[in-house]
Amino acid sequence: MKNSDVVKSYQAYRSRVARETIPCYEPSIGKEELRLVTDVIKRNWLSENKYTREFESQLAKICQRKYSVAFANATAALICGMKALGIKEGDEVIVPSFSHGADPNSVSNAGATVVFTDVDPVSLCLTRQTIEKAITKKTKAILYVCAYGNVSDLDAMADYAKSKKIFFINDCAPALFGSYKYRPIASYGDFSVLSFFADKTITTGEGGMLLSNNLALMNKVNRYKHDGRRERGVDVIEEKGYNFRITELQTAVGVAQLKKAPYFVKRKKEILRYYIKKLAGINSVRLFTFNPDGDIVPHRVVIFVPNAKNLITYLTSLGIGVRSMFMPMHSMPAYQTKGDLPNTQEIFKTGVCLPSAPSLTDKNIEFICQSIKKFYA
Ligand SMILES: Cc1ncc(COP(=O)(O)O)c(C=O)c1O
Repeated sequence: MKNSDVVKSYQAYRSRVARETIPCYEPSIGKEELRLVTDVIKRNWLSENKYTREFESQLAKICQRKYSVAFANATAALICGMKALGIKEGDEVIVPSFSHGADPNSVSNAGATVVFTDVDPVSLCLTRQTIEKAITKKTKAILYVCAYGNVSDLDAMADYAKSKKIFFINDCAPALFGSYKYRPIASYGDFSVLSFFADKTITTGEGGMLLSNNLALMNKVNRYKHDGRRERGVDVIEEKGYNFRITELQTAVGVAQLKKAPYFVKRKKEILRYYIKKLAGINSVRLFTFNPDGDIVPHRVVIFVPNAKNLITYLTSLGIGVRSMFMPMHSMPAYQTKGDLPNTQEIFKTGVCLPSAPSLTDKNIEFICQSIKKFYA
């Protein structure tokens, strides 16, 4: 894109979001966040400190993992996790094309080759069938993505990776508090990552977490995160690392958000149930069904319609903050991989993400559903 096109396109995005009377998502930040951030400021140390350690240990407990390391974002966690597993140039990593840019980007930044594959149209995630089409002798890992918080059969995924002696990396960025067969989703995988970007169930603005039960791996992850050093204050560079640290201001917000998380989870599930009720009977709309073998916390409310673009244009004109689904990564300018991945392409053409913030009122949902009904009348 030319520079002027980039500016125009950014301005169009800004003005569209500013006109949204019902946001696609908004965080719920309040007095407790302010209290803990104020405490950090009074302590006069804004880099990682006690709130970061507390945030890490609370998340390890919630996710039933032995170890956790906080990061500046989930992308950074993915890069460090892959480097720590020894994934490098010449290795292939299977990535669903239906994913966030962070997925292929992190594989590439770790030096490995991205091998895109399609997803299962029911779960929107990888399955054994989709992976088998992409696996080769060079495959070092599967980068599994929990699309919109959903999962396919995670036990089958873990067993398959084990049988092939490859790593199972779990990008469950939006799936905190979700479980599969009574096990936290984030407890699966050689390591898993979470994101705390603004639209996640709990947010720190930007932020991420890497979780694992493997101490040796975590020590390496920690080194990559801290500029290749074992810790701050230790100046020997053992790896060509990064500074991927989060700040204490952010993790103080995270600790405050954790206190409200039970309400966020409850409200997100209530919102989905209300949409299901209100959208029933509109023939052109099919609601995405989350895996019934799990207790999934819906990251987004997703519907499938004949032409997503048309509905998005209409709802946007009413000030409703809707979004398209992940664009197929394999056809992005940075990747340009040949071949069709029909499920991924169809999901993008037909899927729409509806507003789903915990702050959404029942009245908002009624208005959104009435508008959809009107569009298809
Ligand atoms: C599935 C998935 N993976 C990775 C990311 C990237 O997370 P971050 O922005 O924290 O790097 C996101 C963010 O929305 C995501 O949804």
